[in-house]
Amino acid sequence: MTPALDPHIDCRTIEFQQNPYPCYAWLRRHAPAYFEPIEGAWWISRYEDIAALLSTPERLSSAVKADFEPTFIAADGPDYQSIRRHVSPLFDLHQAATRLDEHIATTARRLAVDGKKRGRFDLMTDFAEPLALSTIAQFLGIAASCSLRELSQCASHLVGMTESGEPVTDAAAKRRDARRWVGRHIPTIRELLDLPSHSKLNDASCLTDIATTLIVAGNRTVTSLVGNIVQLLLNHPREAAAVESNPTAIPMLIDEAIRLDTPLQAIQRFAAEDLLVAGTRIKRGERLRFLIGSANRDEGEFENADTFEPKPESRRHLGFGLGQTYCIGARLARLQASSTVEELFGSGLPPRLIDGGELTTVRWHRGPGRFVLEWR
Ligand code: HEM
Repeated sequence: MTPALDPHIDCRTIEFQQNPYPCYAWLRRHAPAYFEPIEGAWWISRYEDIAALLSTPERLSSAVKADFEPTFIAADGPDYQSIRRHVSPLFDLHQAATRLDEHIATTARRLAVDGKKRGRFDLMTDFAEPLALSTIAQFLGIAASCSLRELSQCASHLVGMTESGEPVTDAAAKRRDARRWVGRHIPTIRELLDLPSHSKLNDASCLTDIATTLIVAGNRTVTSLVGNIVQLLLNHPREAAAVESNPTAIPMLIDEAIRLDTPLQAIQRFAAEDLLVAGTRIKRGERLRFLIGSANRDEGEFENADTFEPKPESRRHLGFGLGQTYCIGARLARLQASSTVEELFGSGLPPRLIDGGELTTVRWHRGPGRFVLEWR
């Protein structure tokens, strides 16, 4: 029998937003499959349960009927696989990869040099956001035809938010406008991708879907990761010093940062059949919330799970998901994080925190708001 509900289990409370981990630990111990009445979803909090379900996608469905959800991440079965098959090459195409690698390295360098010249800057608005948005613009080939300001507004409106993270009024109209804005860039995107004429992707609405998915998926996730890893390195000077003395340690630092403070704390599915999770029956059609931020701190999977300790096992985190829907932009995200670490901690004195930098979890995104840094 599920023990009495802990009053703190409400993802709307400030306590939860500031520090969801005690709640996750309670859930893993007492109710690994917990029906959360406010969301109307089963919260699954243990690593082994989430990994087992994500590894059997046929038992799950991503299909939701919502006016925003683009077909890509809300598709199932053969429909999903055909879109994924079309989209994956976009990330592997050699020229796309090299073009982006250079762009990310030079942009991170330019933004860091500007910051150092000014002596003080806000990591999120003056570094993380321009880096993430310009990388998406470069990827889609629209860097020359749109401003980062427009792209930032589009990315926020696509998820029903203002650029400062508040819910927008008339969200549906704003989303439609944002999709129309993306639609105007489709000829440029199509030209860049230069896909075979028979490719399903050449269809304007399909390309708009893909482009809006990438704009949303590659924005706040990346800015959160940049903020989280800088915050962690400022609080762990020994690991920060290793960046200069041993740059090969950077990938493990990034994985440990994603494990400890996962930028995307939860993902959603529906049960495609009746399921038994941690001894709890979940009916076909019911909604599931996989708390990957909790799985990444599961003591059953990670030693000293609440401590920042970069090690080879860190890479087993579920921060990019698992299985067939594994994050298609993971390489791009890692590149942006490693360029950030190299530029801010790779040589000379690291910056120091002047203001902000606290992490919060809002709509399952965990990252800092204001984050003012100063160079000595
Ligand atoms: C730190 C940065 C990032 C994090 C933490 C992250 C996290 C994730 C996670 C957890 C998933 C799996 C979702 C699921 O199974 O429901 C995912 C999927 C996805 N990500 Fe990322 N992501 C990041 C960056 C990016 C970037 C930069 C892009 C592209 C520009 C991107 C594009 C996608 C797409 C298209 C999917 C859907 C894949 C599918 O359903 O087949 N992500 N991401």
